[in-house]
Amino acid sequence: MRVETADIIIVGAGGAGLRAAIAVAEADPNVSIALVSKVYPMRSHTCAAEGGAAGVIKSNDKLDYHFDDTVAGGDWLTDQDAVELFVNEIPKELTQMEHWGCPWSREGDGHVAVRPFGGMKIMRTWYASDKTGFHMLHTLFQTSLKYPSIKRFDEFFTTDLLVEDGRCGGITAIEMRTGQLRTFRGKAVIVCSGGAGRVFPFTTNGAIKTGDGMAMAYRAGVPLKDMEFVQYHPTGLPGTGILLTEGCRGEGGYLLNKDGYRYLQDYGLGPATEKPVLKAMELGPRDRLSQAFWHEEKKGRTIPTKWGSVIHLDMRHLGEKLINERLPLVRDLSRNYVNADPVTDLVPVRPVVHYMMGGISTDINGATTVDGLYAAGECACVSINGANRLGSNSLGELLVFGARAARHAVEYVKTARPMTDAAATAQASDVENRIAALYKRTSGKERVPALRQQMTMSMEEGCGIYRDEVSLKATCDVVAEVRARFKDVALEDKSYVYNTDLFQTLELGCMIEVAQALVVSAIERKESRGAHQRLDYVQRDDVNYLKHSMAYYNPNGDPRIDYLDVVITKSQPAERVYGAAAGGQVTA
Ligand code: FUM
Repeated sequence: MRVETADIIIVGAGGAGLRAAIAVAEADPNVSIALVSKVYPMRSHTCAAEGGAAGVIKSNDKLDYHFDDTVAGGDWLTDQDAVELFVNEIPKELTQMEHWGCPWSREGDGHVAVRPFGGMKIMRTWYASDKTGFHMLHTLFQTSLKYPSIKRFDEFFTTDLLVEDGRCGGITAIEMRTGQLRTFRGKAVIVCSGGAGRVFPFTTNGAIKTGDGMAMAYRAGVPLKDMEFVQYHPTGLPGTGILLTEGCRGEGGYLLNKDGYRYLQDYGLGPATEKPVLKAMELGPRDRLSQAFWHEEKKGRTIPTKWGSVIHLDMRHLGEKLINERLPLVRDLSRNYVNADPVTDLVPVRPVVHYMMGGISTDINGATTVDGLYAAGECACVSINGANRLGSNSLGELLVFGARAARHAVEYVKTARPMTDAAATAQASDVENRIAALYKRTSGKERVPALRQQMTMSMEEGCGIYRDEVSLKATCDVVAEVRARFKDVALEDKSYVYNTDLFQTLELGCMIEVAQALVVSAIERKESRGAHQRLDYVQRDDVNYLKHSMAYYNPNGDPRIDYLDVVITKSQPAERVYGAAAGGQVTA
């Protein structure tokens, strides 16, 4: 088997992976980097981020305000040391992006513009029209090209981590073009492989977001933290799930039920006003808005369509000039996918799975419980998002913690012992044999699409915006059944060149592990907090559950769930207050 070597291996070349690679190269140009990605970097899901990245820059804002909004937005399940570090670092990171050429939108006098975003009580979201992720990814990608120490391996599907005595020494990955397995040996691995929204059937997430990196670390013994917290974005396009950015509401769009009524005023998010009010209504946090939709649907006040119930996003009053300038992608998407022009028409939308608050458990340096293994970006849980992430905090997170994990990995590799050849060779052979066995299996009667559909539908039904013991247990049973039947999957396509049958099979294996960790963590959390809402335990329970869930892999059954204390420094848990109760005033 061909062996590649590098000091640091980075899995994933989206925003976090590219930022990490640049940070390694800047910290020490002599440290060699293998940047391994299952897609060409510019096809990574960071590209799909639209609305912006929050960071304190204006004189009316303070780091403490960003801290407070983030901690309250996360329903106090955030680690406050991580949040403090994050809010301090992000303005520098966004300014660095500016210096690397990111075309931030501007005010008339040339200063960087900011827009309002949900749950942020001050305007602090930097944006590049409504294609912020695209421009950030492009900026990072073109910057990465100038560092000779970054060697890219595009279209390599990473299958496993190589671990010896609690120390990570590399990965195995399939070159997708040839189907050949390769070993990558290194002293540290940084996993930046993105989230796992595809374990649900209706999601804003690209097809690549199948939780591969999460599953890989989990199987290697690293706990997945806070997996029960799944974010629904309130405004996805029906049918496709394509995101219509929160920037639509930041710019002043309204959400209307079937009677044309701004129903959010009935859910503690009022009062309704003519202008966007940062503390309220459409600019409430995503968990609250998605839950309000669920209640409206139960009351029969949503609009039925063949794609399920919808409500309307009304941007008509914003005018064509503003929409063209600040929301051009939203206009294109609405016209192309639901035949509605936001300048003249109401746009149908509904909540859609968007983001995993949980992920590979890391400390504030991105380090995991396995030496030499780091994680950053959506696949990781450094705990700045708690029970509900605020919109526009994730682009900042991938910059801050991608760079931070990289700098720590650079220090680590200076003294790290490499894995032994014998252990690396033996583990790589095991992977090779496993894949060969999959190719050889002819008797399998199970098919990936059917298993995948059964599992993802069950996740939506039983583990969606609201859950209870019965629905969760039913989903848990389905996931366990799918996990058992998955052992009987056979490949229909036995070829080696871009074998999508093989990759979708490997992806489903990862999705099953992630889904099981998620649903079991949700069963065990017997309270309602942020995005985890239980119909049978409706209150937040700080006495018993002000702690992170930690799911540990069990190859033979349900994961073991343990708990970890939340880090609280200066903000004691309190009631989350939005809308009228928060004063309801514009604070921009
Ligand atoms: O609505 C959006 O533009 C999404 C942003 C985010 O998830 O941070």
